[in-house]
Amino acid sequence: MSDPRQHEKYEQYEGGSPEAERKVFEELAQRIVRIQRINQETGQLPGPDRAFHAKTTIAVDNARVRFHTDLPLSLREGFVQPGAEYPALVRYSNAAGVPAADSAQDLRGIAVRIVVGDDERHDLLMLNLPASHAANAREFVEFAEVMAGASGTAQVAYRFLVKLPRAVGRPAATRMRKTLQKAVARKIGSLSQERYWSQAPILWGDAGPVQYQLRPSPGGLPAPKPDRADRDRLRTELAARLRERDVVYELCLQRFADEATTPVENASVEWPEDVAPPVPVATLTIPRQDLDSNEAVAVTRRIEQLVFTPWRTTDAFRPLGNLNRSRDAAYGASSARRLGQE
Ligand code: HEM
Repeated sequence: MSDPRQHEKYEQYEGGSPEAERKVFEELAQRIVRIQRINQETGQLPGPDRAFHAKTTIAVDNARVRFHTDLPLSLREGFVQPGAEYPALVRYSNAAGVPAADSAQDLRGIAVRIVVGDDERHDLLMLNLPASHAANAREFVEFAEVMAGASGTAQVAYRFLVKLPRAVGRPAATRMRKTLQKAVARKIGSLSQERYWSQAPILWGDAGPVQYQLRPSPGGLPAPKPDRADRDRLRTELAARLRERDVVYELCLQRFADEATTPVENASVEWPEDVAPPVPVATLTIPRQDLDSNEAVAVTRRIEQLVFTPWRTTDAFRPLGNLNRSRDAAYGASSARRLGQE
């Protein structure tokens, strides 16, 4: 059995206590709601959408997660058992809070919901970048505020070079610019061939903090040349691929080594693979299917209304670190507004 208080030895709360930190996060969540409003105006959207990750690329409810039969003993915890298999939902998204053409520079997200039972689900949220641009929640929100509503290369450059250093200081602004500009400029052929990282740790029972990642299983075919006129080219590519074959990823864990090389509180540090090698623990399979059928379109609509959050899990798999702790309030505020549950 894991000790539910074990995580506390890895964590440091802003303001010195969980209560003080929660107040900070509530204030940050209100600032995210303001960003959500700006995005709604900028995109001329009919109603509030997700404050981030507004555009769904593809969403399915018939994926499967199967844990490997040779799962190391130290990584077995709760629902994570050798050979255990669960249904899963998957939503791919573009990270921006305003839906745009898939050719626009952006990060790509994937949300996976593992359905263990009626009252046990685990949401895994990842981006196609190993570490976050932001060390903590404050930096994340400052950045999002500075960039909200920006359009065009000149305006984005001005905000990166002038406004962001004013908001977070020059060293953090330079780090964010370098991390993000390189990542979003990379051309993507297929979402099935991308790697996705949790960027921030979660507890994994007695094993302690881990970061998780999805990497494409070997043998996937390269993507064909995209049709430049297609606004939804990433969807088109993945849908064509899924008409022919399953799309499969390997779920891997990186284990905490020490606070200096694999920090829990600083999400901008990539956990190095030579210190924390990714251990494959499960496969995620999205089965071959027709995403243009009426049924698949209805499934997508239904999944768009769901709320994926790293906080949908059990104590043994609790999100860790300042950035992750802030997400409970943030996802709650964004989803309450878009679903009319305020
Ligand atoms: C560890 C870094 C992070 C990753 C990997 C990540 C990933 C994601 C993904 C994949 C989604 C889309 C979920 C879906 O399909 O519904 C999402 C949505 C969202 N993210 Fe994050 N995120 C991170 C950090 C943060 C932080 C620090 C905040 C704010 C403090 C934040 C705020 C949001 C909000 C407000 C949404 C929309 C929630 C909704 O309306 O349902 N994210 N994120």
